[in-house]
Amino acid sequence: MMDADQSPRLDIFPSSPIAPVSPLLFSGFLEHLGRCIYGGILPAKTPKELLTAEGFRKDVLEVLRDELGVPMVRWPGGNYVSSYKWEDGIGALEMRKRRPELAWGGEESNQFGTDEFITWCKVAKIEPYIVLNMGTGTLEEALHWIEYCNGTGDTYYANLRRKNTGRDAPHGVKYWGLGNEVWGEWQVGQQTASEYAAKARQWAHAIKLIDPSVKLVGCGEAGLNDWDGVVLDILVDKIDMHSIHLYTGFGPRDRSQTDREYGRTVYGPDAAEYSIEICKGLINKARFNKAVRKPIKIAFDEYGVWDETVGTPQNGLEQFYTFADALAMASWLNVFVRHADIVEIACIAQSVNVISPLIVSPTGLFRQTIFHPLYLFSRYMRGGVSVRIAASSAAYSGETLPQWISSIKGHPADLDVSAVLHTSETGKRSLRIAVVNRSENRSYQTPVRIAFENVEMGEEQQVEAHELWHEDVNARNGWGHEQEVSVTTRVAPWSGSWTFRAHSFTLLVLDLR
Ligand code: AHR
Repeated sequence: MMDADQSPRLDIFPSSPIAPVSPLLFSGFLEHLGRCIYGGILPAKTPKELLTAEGFRKDVLEVLRDELGVPMVRWPGGNYVSSYKWEDGIGALEMRKRRPELAWGGEESNQFGTDEFITWCKVAKIEPYIVLNMGTGTLEEALHWIEYCNGTGDTYYANLRRKNTGRDAPHGVKYWGLGNEVWGEWQVGQQTASEYAAKARQWAHAIKLIDPSVKLVGCGEAGLNDWDGVVLDILVDKIDMHSIHLYTGFGPRDRSQTDREYGRTVYGPDAAEYSIEICKGLINKARFNKAVRKPIKIAFDEYGVWDETVGTPQNGLEQFYTFADALAMASWLNVFVRHADIVEIACIAQSVNVISPLIVSPTGLFRQTIFHPLYLFSRYMRGGVSVRIAASSAAYSGETLPQWISSIKGHPADLDVSAVLHTSETGKRSLRIAVVNRSENRSYQTPVRIAFENVEMGEEQQVEAHELWHEDVNARNGWGHEQEVSVTTRVAPWSGSWTFRAHSFTLLVLDLR
């Protein structure tokens, strides 16, 4: 918040650490939905020379692995998982059953199943995270799936995996989700919170018997709902993480009111901050009541910018993002970095084609506007320790989406900031400061004070500045204009202040001596 006559200010406290930034904050999500798997991962009319030896799309895999450095991917859903029969997706491809697909409509060919997912993860150097079917699925099926993936003994499903893959090595799937959005009325097999929690307790108990080494993620709602409280109270001693799902920019929009639209887009991620704060309280209350000593973290395993009137089931949730959406994405990532002490996993929903930073044609791809903040955060904020900051700027008093951000959490500030202290393998320290100036029209010439002992900011101090900016907040990337919105990088002398242009995202890298 800032008084009318007060100048903007940014204070960074590198000696006041919050927590190391979990690398899993840069995770992804693949669901059998639209052109995500079939088209994005497996080819659809893609020539052979554009595929890996295993038959996957090379371009998508390379961007996820080599540019975004995606550490983990959640699969196979999403809503899809709640009627998924995993055994339909193993064995000879020509023998696999085609099934009606209940979550999104259409049919599922099952040409991409567990072994294909694991192979893709290996090629992409990605940790697999599998969600169990707690809709139509039984505990027995879930135990068989885990045995199939992780079994090392002379047992039926472990041997079936050996037969199907021709290898002895287990898939070694460590992360398992206990159902997806079981609270939602759109879900196959919706349950009440107490029904779900009682069932999930039994599942968790049995799963840990078959493989005590796995990490279990309980099914949460938005982190602050009654569902979250009830489920955590019952389940907290049986899980390792509690999931949160939240999308911003979600809901019918009035496209004639673009000012209102911009504000609703860019300030929306403040809702996620509140979700995390409340969820942390609910987790700790439940831990207190059950005397659970181990920390329970948040797996924010579906987040992103999604306008349901644009990305619809009819178009496979293909949303073409604006520059304003990219600013929202940067704010989302700031929220996760600021809450590095409790958020262990964050999976953008989703990784290709479906409400995604990447859109493909049979032979190529382009990076959407929202790709760029993800890339910058993954490249510069990963591996650092999140540190405390204090920022002052004007507060936004327009309408927010959801509306309660301004009424309950408080009017969002224009400058949205996170910072990490990064130490390289050779011991070189640098400060990375991510700043979204969410004001549409106001630029902020901002003194940046770094409260850190034993740091010299000499006259020759330089700053590396990566900026994402476009004059038109509705600008998009697309076929034929793939670079319309892109990052510019420059190195400049550091003067102790920085001008954050109106509607911009800036990531500053300052080497410390
Ligand atoms: O990511 C799209 C859908 O959003 C997922 O299938 C579901 O879990 C959520 O409602």
